[in-house]
Amino acid sequence: MVCSRVTNSFDPVPHDKLLHTAVVASKEAGRLLLDYHESGFQIEHKNPINLATDADHAAEQCVIDHIRKHFPGHRILAEERGRVEESTSPYLWVVDPLDGTTNFAHGYPAYGVSIGVEHRGRCILGVVFDPSRNELFTGVEGGGAQLNGRPIRVSRTRDLDSSLLVTGFAYNIRESARNNLDHFVTFALKAQGIRRTGSAALDLCYVACGRFDGFWEISLNPWDMAAGSVIAREAGGHLTNFSGSNLSIYEEELVASNGHIHRAMLKVLNGDAPRTTRP
Ligand code: IPD
Ligand code: CA
Ligand code: CA
Repeated sequence: MVCSRVTNSFDPVPHDKLLHTAVVASKEAGRLLLDYHESGFQIEHKNPINLATDADHAAEQCVIDHIRKHFPGHRILAEERGRVEESTSPYLWVVDPLDGTTNFAHGYPAYGVSIGVEHRGRCILGVVFDPSRNELFTGVEGGGAQLNGRPIRVSRTRDLDSSLLVTGFAYNIRESARNNLDHFVTFALKAQGIRRTGSAALDLCYVACGRFDGFWEISLNPWDMAAGSVIAREAGGHLTNFSGSNLSIYEEELVASNGHIHRAMLKVLNGDAPRTTRP
C-alpha cells in the first residue's frame, strides 16, 4: 500500500506549484473583473475618493478560494478582507484583487490582479495580471521575471533627463501635508516625463519591462507592492525606501528603478543629500 503524507502548512512548496496557483487565480479573477466591467457593478466609498466595488470583493473571493483549495493553512492577507487565515505557516499570500479600482470604476483600462507570496517574511514570488491587455507578469526568486512567458529586463536609461518616471498619490492626498505633490513638481522639471497610471502593481511591472525607468510612491500598502516588487527585482530592478535601505512592503515608501537612475531619484526625494535615517 502506498501512503502519501498529508501536506501541512509548514511543508516547503516548490515555487512552480505556488506560481501555477497564482497564475490560474489571477487569470480567473481577471476574467471576473472584465465580466463586471461589461455587466455593471456597485460602488461603495471608503472615503470620498477611495472606492471599492463588488468586483473587488468577487475577485478577492476568487483568489482566496484558489489559495485555500491548494494550500489550506497558508496565511492570507487580502486588501478587502484583511488577514484571512491566522495560522503560523511560513507562507503568506498577499493579495490585491483589483489594483486600480478608480480606473476600473471609470472604465479606464489600467488595472490588474496582484498576488504575491512571502516565505518567512521574504517576498519570493509575484504575479500581476492585466486582463484588459491580457498581460501576465510573473517573477520568481532566482528565476527571473517574465511577461506572457518571455523574459523581461529593466531599461538601460542612465539619467533622469532621459527617463520616463511614474508615481501615484494616496487617498489621503486632501488631508496629508506629505502628499507627494512636492516630489511630483521637482521630478516634472528633471525627468523626460512623468505618468500617473493609477495602479502601483502595474507601475512596478512596467519598471520591470523597461516601459518606465523609475517609480516612487509615498504611502503604499503591502498588497500594492508584494507581487510587483518581486517582478521588478527579478528583472534587474533596484528597490529601496527613500533612505536607500532595502524595501520592506510593510513600510510605505517605495523607490523602484532600473538601478542607473536610483541615486538621482533618492537625491530628489531627500532634497540634496540622501537621508541615512528615516524621519
Ligand atoms: C491604489 C493604486 C494607485 C496608488 C494608490 C493605491 P487601489 O490601489 O495602486 O496607483 O497610487 O496608492 O492605493 O486602491 O486601486 O487598489
Ligand atoms: Ca492597490
Ligand atoms: Ca485594490
